[in-house]
Amino acid sequence: MDKDLTYKIKELKKEKNARILAHYYQPPEIQDLADSVGDSYYLSEIARDCPEDVIVFCGVKFMGESAKILSPDKKILMPSLDAGCFMADTINEEGVKKLKQEHPDALVVCYINSTANVKAYCDVSVTSASAIKILNNISTKKIVFLPDKNLGEYIAEQFPEKEFIFWDGCCKYHNDISVYEILELKKKYSDAEVLVHPECKKEIRELGDYVGSTSGIISYANDSNNKNFIVATEEGILHELNKNNPDKNFFIPGKNVLCPDMKKTTLENLYSTLLNMENEVDVEESIREKALNSLLNMHKLAE
Ligand code: 13P
Ligand code: SF4
Repeated sequence: MDKDLTYKIKELKKEKNARILAHYYQPPEIQDLADSVGDSYYLSEIARDCPEDVIVFCGVKFMGESAKILSPDKKILMPSLDAGCFMADTINEEGVKKLKQEHPDALVVCYINSTANVKAYCDVSVTSASAIKILNNISTKKIVFLPDKNLGEYIAEQFPEKEFIFWDGCCKYHNDISVYEILELKKKYSDAEVLVHPECKKEIRELGDYVGSTSGIISYANDSNNKNFIVATEEGILHELNKNNPDKNFFIPGKNVLCPDMKKTTLENLYSTLLNMENEVDVEESIREKALNSLLNMHKLAE
């Protein structure tokens, strides 16, 4: 049945001139089917540059919205339009406006994990893979960073000469990873390297042999001679890690680290989205124009 559905999706994709993009946290069968799999930065570039008329974005809402902001003439579809992001929803338009009022002299930097409505009030977006490079290219001393306080603090540690003001947001799933869970795994696999996504708390980052984005974690593990790894991020990443490194072992701390919104994509809803060309991402034009600035600045400053 799944093989049949996979075949039908591939046929429909050709017929509709569509490209399927998937984030590393998507279910394995979706990553296997996608034309492009990657981190938030890579996928934003593909969404901007790919020649197809239709993008089916297997990810969460802010990713689909960013694709629409960058490529307004393309049809951007999502298998599940209600796949949100806990972190993005920690701040709304009023929140960012208030920060701007309180700090009129600051540059407002948002993590790409924010809604289009919020991006519309920000100067530049960043992803975890591009943030350090982008901040290196910004001379402004005072930075408002939103919505992820953990990522913000990680960036701030690299720029002690700058003043940072944070929004108190986080990713519930990364933030819940505990030191105890990592140390329990370390007891069993004392030689394991600890790979940490910067959405984790400081105390977890401090245990990391490597801290970086999903693509950074994957590159690090591919290049390392170690056999065992403790991976402090969403467990969807295991698919790519295991595919690239069949002889290495990857362990997720605790029982699981699972983002339910990332798991809302199924072969069934992907198929019906393509078949009916439904679940189109819509960003109101006046918002899109304002939000575009922050994403264009992201690509420009990350070069
Ligand atoms: P990256 O893949 O850019 O590291 O981002 C992780 C994430 O939180 C996606 O929701
Ligand atoms: Fe958002 Fe966290 Fe899910 Fe990423 S893992 S989409 S930051 S809720």
